[in-house]
Amino acid sequence: MAEITRYIGLSLGADICWPAAFEGVMKRLDLRIPHGADTMKFDVERISIEPFNLRQKVKYDVVIDRLTHWYHASREWIKKGILMDDLYVFNNPWSVQSNEKHTSYAAMMALGMPIPETWMIPPKAYDLQNQPDVKLTLQKYGKLFDLKNVGDQVGWPFFLKPYDGGGWRAVTRVADPKAAWKAYENSGRMVMHAQQSVEGFDRFVRCIGFGPQTHCVSYDPSAPLHDRYTMKTNFMPATDVEHLRKVTLTINAFFGWDFNSCEALHRDGTWYPIDYANPCPDSQVTSLHYHWPWLVKSYLRWAIFTAATKKPMRKTLDWEPFYKVAAMDLPYAEKLDRYAAIADERLQTAQFTEFSARHLSHLDAVADDYFASAECKAAVREKTAALFPAHEVERFSELFFSRVQQYRADNPPQR
Ligand SMILES: Nc1ncnc2c1ncn2[C@@H]1O[C@H](COP(=O)(O)OP(=O)(O)O)[C@@H](O)[C@H]1O
Ligand SMILES: [Mg+2]
Repeated sequence: MAEITRYIGLSLGADICWPAAFEGVMKRLDLRIPHGADTMKFDVERISIEPFNLRQKVKYDVVIDRLTHWYHASREWIKKGILMDDLYVFNNPWSVQSNEKHTSYAAMMALGMPIPETWMIPPKAYDLQNQPDVKLTLQKYGKLFDLKNVGDQVGWPFFLKPYDGGGWRAVTRVADPKAAWKAYENSGRMVMHAQQSVEGFDRFVRCIGFGPQTHCVSYDPSAPLHDRYTMKTNFMPATDVEHLRKVTLTINAFFGWDFNSCEALHRDGTWYPIDYANPCPDSQVTSLHYHWPWLVKSYLRWAIFTAATKKPMRKTLDWEPFYKVAAMDLPYAEKLDRYAAIADERLQTAQFTEFSARHLSHLDAVADDYFASAECKAAVREKTAALFPAHEVERFSELFFSRVQQYRADNPPQR
């Protein structure tokens, strides 16, 4: 009987809190999973940044990647690991690199999702010095346009926002042509969308997907950052929860994103997804607080499952099965069921559920101990100190840690 080790690598940037929790719970779990006649252990390591030989084998089975959407040396290392060493990575790096918000709108429109009317607008300004061909190109092919006409067709009011999104950068709600022109003037070299505003929505939900696991949070965009993820629970019917599960997993399976968050607005019985190209979503206790334990546990379960089973990485995205469903003469609800079935198959929902029940039934209790610990409190504090001014660190660390305790009280584990 031999001991075999599965290696989980953390590809990190400025993250502080969730990796500490991930490592803390993993250590407490001290997993020994039977594997045939052998026993499987798990080793977690933070990945260093250094020169690498393309032929040097990557030792990890799974990499949780939170770095390479902006740090490209690591992104290339990960791509090489997938191509040469059977590495499984959250998320598919090619897909993160190439599928912007715009593509996500187009793809989900093609699948029939009720995405609000959206137009793309060429940029207002250019880098003429470094792009000498721009002038001639625009003189020949650039068509003068009136933003008011675009607005009339998109519908007023609309949101002017970058085609690639992220962090509410340059997002403006414009209600009339004058405001639209002003926002466009300010957009500079950014490529912008004009998207019809979903006015009068009664729910704003962020649904986080992690592998086959999903979690809906009632979101308040008008609140200060630390209160935007509200602590409301059971705030909508199970049918809505299930609907957003299907939408989120469809998007994630389509794009090969293991973790992502999907923003959707609800009005008059319809869910309008508006922002769902957020692979590698916010995982910080300073914004997730109450929901952070759920997220940390989801990281753990999906990492352990994919490492233990050596889940093969889907190197290509293969969109055809989704398009086949889209072409069927079926109501949208039935298409969505079929998209979600493809997602459940790709994300191995049934196998994951069975694996978790068999090997990780104690994870909730072990994680609960961690979330109660001084070690966890220190991680929360360290993250808070990195973000807040010195005089607010004490108050906000206490606040975030108390919300983690509230989650524990509301979700007591079976022991
Ligand atoms: N079509 C829309 N209808 C209503 N509100 C919107 C719409 N688009 C954006 N918003 C508002 O603007 C915010 C930021 O836009 P979003 O597309 O989420 O950009 P980002 O990618 O920067 O998060 C959203 O959280 C929402 O409050
Ligand atoms: Mg958003």
